[in-house]
Amino acid sequence: MPQISQLFFKTAIICLIIGLAMGLQMGMSGNHTVIAAHAHLNLLGWVSSAVFGGYYALNPSKAVKRLAMVHYIVYTLGLIAMLPALYFMELGNPQLEPLVGIGSLIVLVGVLIFAVVMFSKETAAIPEATRA
Ligand code: HEM
Repeated sequence: MPQISQLFFKTAIICLIIGLAMGLQMGMSGNHTVIAAHAHLNLLGWVSSAVFGGYYALNPSKAVKRLAMVHYIVYTLGLIAMLPALYFMELGNPQLEPLVGIGSLIVLVGVLIFAVVMFSKETAAIPEATRA
């Protein structure tokens, strides 16, 4: 499996573990304050990262492009900026809202980079390094 897929899947599973813990904590306490952080961690962190990982696994010629790594770094930095800020904002720290906004914009840039990768031409040769 390409390295970029491994990175996305590892990031995804970390997000799922934290996202499920957050969901269980909400369920057990009956306090659903952090609902948006939970939903976004699971959907942007777990589902979308896993979809990206799957895409690169199915398109190994795209996985070796430098832009694929730029996509991973930008998208994941966006998640790191946005999600903890969203969580603590929901817990009563409204001053974190600008950080949530900046993180969200970085996530959007990561997704736009992915769109460029998707629409770029496939190269015929699959380098040895991407094979399992
Ligand atoms: C252990 C597993 C999970 C537990 C215990 C859990 C628990 C919860 C709870 C308590 C809420 C708040 C419900 C409300 O106040 O209306 C919630 C909302 C939500 N969860 Fe989870 N969750 C889990 C897994 C997931 C996963 C895997 C996803 C997505 C992949 C997800 C996506 C969402 C979304 C989108 C909402 C918002 C729903 C809405 O606004 O109506 N959850 N979850």
